[in-house]
Amino acid sequence: MGETCSKTIILSVVVAVLVLVLAAVVAAFIYRETSSRSKRTELNENTVQDLYPAFFRSQEEQRVFNASFQQSFYFNRTVIQPTVKSTQSCSFTCVNPAPARRKRQSTIGVQHGCCTSSVAFHAPPNHPNIQGQIRTFLQYESKKQFFTVHSCTALIGCTGCVCSQENNVAPAVVVKFGVQEVDDLQDTEIDYFYFAGCCKCVND
Ligand SMILES: *[C@@H]1O[C@H](CO)[C@@H](O)[C@H](O)[C@H]1NC(C)=O
Ligand SMILES: *[C@@H]1O[C@H](CO)[C@@H](O)[C@H](O)[C@H]1NC(C)=O
Repeated sequence: MGETCSKTIILSVVVAVLVLVLAAVVAAFIYRETSSRSKRTELNENTVQDLYPAFFRSQEEQRVFNASFQQSFYFNRTVIQPTVKSTQSCSFTCVNPAPARRKRQSTIGVQHGCCTSSVAFHAPPNHPNIQGQIRTFLQYESKKQFFTVHSCTALIGCTGCVCSQENNVAPAVVVKFGVQEVDDLQDTEIDYFYFAGCCKCVND
């Protein structure tokens, strides 16, 4: 009988401990849920960079980025050898007013058939998203979001192709719709935007 009694006591102690542990877990869960919901994270150029890494660059970072981007865009290009047999003809002619003598290290543009593509970086304060709604970009004095924007010219007298500019989609960090005072990380989100892309000579 003494044995049954001590077994009952051990069992009730075990049950009591389990109940306490369960209660503690539930309490911790509720605390975490409610406190994280009410916790604010101040919005500044450092917290925003932690949340959205690689979206913002300082002037100096952008200067270095631009230099290597421009170098690669204009000069580090790969020539693809022709290997595909085709019965289609893809000849074109251009009347180039400033022909042939290209300087080796100049950024006058990359010629695609009768089209010339140049590239620059813009850090606009706002821009229409891919649905056409104007969104406000998050931009700071010392860290900005930069986007590549190509510009295109088409040579007169070109036959066989038309100059056609791609629309590149790029993500950007924006202020949420309806937010008046932008001071919390929750006031920001990512949206998608078209920027003018490379200009190419597309077959007629
Ligand atoms: C040129 O681009 C290739 C990759 O396309 C890269 O491996 C190489 O390092 C680049 N060269 C220079 C000088 O930037
Ligand atoms: C980027 O580099 C090019 C060529 O090196 C230069 O002409 C241009 O002013 C630079 N800055 C921007 C913002 O594109």
